[in-house]
Amino acid sequence: MTVLIRGFGPANSSASLDHPANDTSPRHSWVPLQPRGNVSESHSSGRLISSTSTEPTAKVLRGQRDRGIEILVRKFLAFLLNPSARYSLGILVVVGILLGTGGLTVFDFAMHETSTDEFCLGCHELEVNIGREYVGMSHSLNARGFQVTCSDCHLPKPFVPKMKRKFRAIGEIYHHILGTIDTPEKFEAHRMTMATRVWAEMNETDSRECRDCHKADQWDLDAQTQEVRDFHVSALSKNKTCINCHKGVAHKLPDGIVPDQQLPRMNAAENQ
Ligand code: HEC
Ligand code: HEC
Ligand code: HEC
Ligand code: HEC
Repeated sequence: MTVLIRGFGPANSSASLDHPANDTSPRHSWVPLQPRGNVSESHSSGRLISSTSTEPTAKVLRGQRDRGIEILVRKFLAFLLNPSARYSLGILVVVGILLGTGGLTVFDFAMHETSTDEFCLGCHELEVNIGREYVGMSHSLNARGFQVTCSDCHLPKPFVPKMKRKFRAIGEIYHHILGTIDTPEKFEAHRMTMATRVWAEMNETDSRECRDCHKADQWDLDAQTQEVRDFHVSALSKNKTCINCHKGVAHKLPDGIVPDQQLPRMNAAENQ
């Protein structure tokens, strides 16, 4: 009883939180159950104690709100920590897997759809820029019918660099809207800038994408002509990377870089 009396007064309302089981009094202490001043008549009843306070005070309201929050937090913790009573663990696991694979499938679909040649050529149109050169070159048209796609060379396979590249493509959308390369003339004028970016990147990654297919440790140097072998042996020993010599393997080179004489000339310069 003493607990109740101390605990339910507006001055110390929070104490009753600790003894919810003992708390048989009405929550709303401002509802007078008895006329004012009758406390002494029924001092043995906890209910009447409350009637001494007839106005809601800020403290009481705060106490009620805090209690509400506490109940919510407790329920939430119980929900997290206790096995679900309503749903079996099996159902929860299955729902989790379905949501997880659903999300992954959408992600995977988006990744795939934005990596096809059709997607790239949607902007890098056959008639306007890159596409029409690429279809005639050996990575696209060859005796074995082996098709190297845009993404094989331009989209990294490891996850983090791949996401970074996808993110950078947002800039491409922006320039597409600006119309930076939407005519053959504009494209040509911009080509050196873009090619330089690709070269720098491939230099940095040691031509990672080329090496996905062309494995230097699988190279049958004997099958190459003497000239090619000399280039490659010297390249490997000097830690050169493919793109240092093999520029323009899939596109017309930017103006000012002459394709056929480029390799010997570069190599001569490197041997000095
Ligand atoms: C929304 C249109 C659009 C799509 C789709 C698109 N591109 Fe581009 N791309 C551009 C534009 C515009 C530029 C020029 C951007 C600049 O100068 O910053 C560009 C530049 C490039 C460059 C030059 C290098 C660089 O880093 O800027 C490469 C390589 C490239 N795109 C490859 C691709 C590949 C591969 C795909 C398909 C996976 C693709 N693009 C899809 C519009 C697009
Ligand atoms: C998806 C696999 C793949 C990727 C990626 C790839 N290649 Fe190739 N490459 C091939 C195949 C297949 C051939 C042989 C084509 C043929 O039979 O003519 C080839 C041929 C070549 C040739 C000889 C023919 C030519 O066009 O001169 C060179 C040089 C070459 N690749 C360099 C590169 C470089 C540099 C890169 C990176 C920028 C690269 N390749 C990326 C598959 C690939
Ligand atoms: C020092 C310059 C140099 C470097 C570095 C270099 N190559 Fe070459 N490569 C050549 C030359 C020159 C040729 C002969 C001309 C040609 O086919 O373009 C050649 C030819 C090739 C060929 C055609 C081979 C054939 O027998 O027809 C392939 C494929 C090739 N290189 C791939 C690569 C790859 C992949 C790398 C990086 C691991 C690389 N090269 C690094 C200079 C180089
Ligand atoms: C065999 C690898 C390879 C393939 C396949 C390839 N590219 Fe490239 N791409 C390069 C390299 C290397 C460069 C750097 C410039 C150069 O050496 O020609 C480049 C440059 C570019 C540029 C910058 C402009 C320029 O001409 O230099 C664009 C845009 C581009 N590629 C888009 C594409 C698109 C779109 C496709 C598919 C239709 C594609 N590439 C297929 C290797 C490739």
